[in-house]
Amino acid sequence: MSGRSSIKKLPTLRGRTVVNLFFEDSTRTRISFEAAAKRLSADVINFSAKGSSVSKGESLKDTALTLEAMGADGVVIRHGASGAPHRLAGWVRGSVVNAGDGTHEHPTQALLDAFTMRRRLGALDGRRITIVGDVLHSRVARSNVLLLNTLGAEVTLVAPPTLLPVAVDTWPCAVSYDLDAVLPKSDVVMMLRVQAERMNAAYFPTVREYSRRYGLDGERMARMADDAIVMHPGPMNRGVEIAAEVADSVRSTIVEQVANGVSARMAVLYLLLGGSEPAIGKEISEA
Ligand code: CP
Repeated sequence: MSGRSSIKKLPTLRGRTVVNLFFEDSTRTRISFEAAAKRLSADVINFSAKGSSVSKGESLKDTALTLEAMGADGVVIRHGASGAPHRLAGWVRGSVVNAGDGTHEHPTQALLDAFTMRRRLGALDGRRITIVGDVLHSRVARSNVLLLNTLGAEVTLVAPPTLLPVAVDTWPCAVSYDLDAVLPKSDVVMMLRVQAERMNAAYFPTVREYSRRYGLDGERMARMADDAIVMHPGPMNRGVEIAAEVADSVRSTIVEQVANGVSARMAVLYLLLGGSEPAIGKEISEA
C-alpha cells in the first residue's frame, strides 16, 4: 500500500463503524486513524474525553459500553493509563486498537516507523537504529525496540541515565549515554520528544544542557553517514531535541512518517475488521 496512492477510497469496510476514543490529546494518530477508516469506507465516530460525560465521572468501562451499544465494530483508544486498551478489550466485543497508552506502547507508530525505514533503506536486518532522548516516558521507544528487534535491526538507546526505565536492561537493545560516539555508526537516528507534561523536574537537566548533550543539530547531523536518515514521531520540540535545520532537512522523514501512518493504520483496520460482520448485523443476527 502506498503512502500517496492515487486511489482515494475503497469499499472494504462499508457498513463497519470505528470509534476513535481519545482520552489524551493527539493530532497525528487521531486524524490518521480517521482518514484510514474513511478511506476504507467505514463510518467514524470521534470521541474526545474533553466535553464528554467523563468530566462528570463516567468510567472508561461505562463509556466503552455506551459506544459499543451504538454499534462500534472497532475502538481505537488513546489513554493516559498504561494497560487501558488491554482492560477495554475485556469489556467490549469489538476489536480494540492501542493508539498509545501511558508510557507503555504505541504499536501503530512503530509499524509506520518500520514501514518508513523499509521504504527508505530496504530490509532492516542488521541495520543500526539509534533512538535518542526521553525513553523513560516514551511508548514510541518501547514499541519500536520490540518491533525493530523482531525485524533483525540492532537498536541502541541513547539517553541521560535519569531518562531510562529501570528495567531497560531487560529490553532487547543496547544502551549508551554518548550520542556523538553512536551517531556516525547509525543508519537511522530517531529523536524522541521531551515529554514535559510527564516530567519530574529532578529527572531533567536544563533545556540548554539537554540540547547540548542529546539534541540533534546541524553540526551533529553532518557527522552522520551519507545515506542515514533522521526520524521523529512528532510532535517535535524544535530547538530542544531537534534543531529546525535537521527537522526540515533532506535526511528527515518526519512528513513521510505522517503520510505512511495512514497506510499503516488502513492495514491494521483492514486486518481487524475486514473479515468480520458489522456489529449492527451481529446484533440483528443474534436477536
Ligand atoms: N506521534 C504521535 O502519536 O503524535 P500525536 O500525539 O499527535 O498523535
